[in-house]
Amino acid sequence: MKNIVVVLAVVAFTITAYAFILPQQDVWKVPEKYEKMKNPVIADPVSVKNGNEIYSSHCTNCHGVKGKGDGKKSVSLNSIPSDFTSPAFQKQTDGALLYKIYFGHKDMPGFKNRIPDNDDVIEGSFGKTRSPGDLVNFLRTFAK
Ligand code: HEC
Repeated sequence: MKNIVVVLAVVAFTITAYAFILPQQDVWKVPEKYEKMKNPVIADPVSVKNGNEIYSSHCTNCHGVKGKGDGKKSVSLNSIPSDFTSPAFQKQTDGALLYKIYFGHKDMPGFKNRIPDNDDVIEGSFGKTRSPGDLVNFLRTFAK
């Protein structure tokens, strides 16, 4: 009898512990190296236009034309594409956005090697081409 109580206590403790630990593991953590990274591409009209083109062909399906997370594919996903117009989204650094675009999370695919001309990307950098910087510059245009 005593053993059963001990076993039950251990089981209960384990379940409770996991209930607290699992949601934390799910957090989309950005490494410090990326947090501090500066976007080398100036957000001029040419950059924003190129970013818009990349966004239109790779991202609208899920994130929607207006960045609200309401693309036509979004209904079939298990995780919700974030609202790019929200202050919480926009307050992230350019490097943090780059990291999230490069590596993805849950239903968000990683685009590190899918961004046009970015196959020679150096891990932990905005790359040798303008495209990743252009894409991040375009995401900034969703700020209200
Ligand atoms: C297949 C659907 C899908 C596609 C395509 C997609 N995303 Fe996402 N994206 C998501 C989902 C779902 C999330 C939320 C993931 C999470 O919270 O774990 C997300 C999250 C993000 C985030 C982080 C949001 C935040 O709140 O920090 C960024 C940045 C992002 N996407 C950019 C892009 C860009 C840029 C493209 C195109 C190159 C793209 N995504 C293409 C589904 C998609």
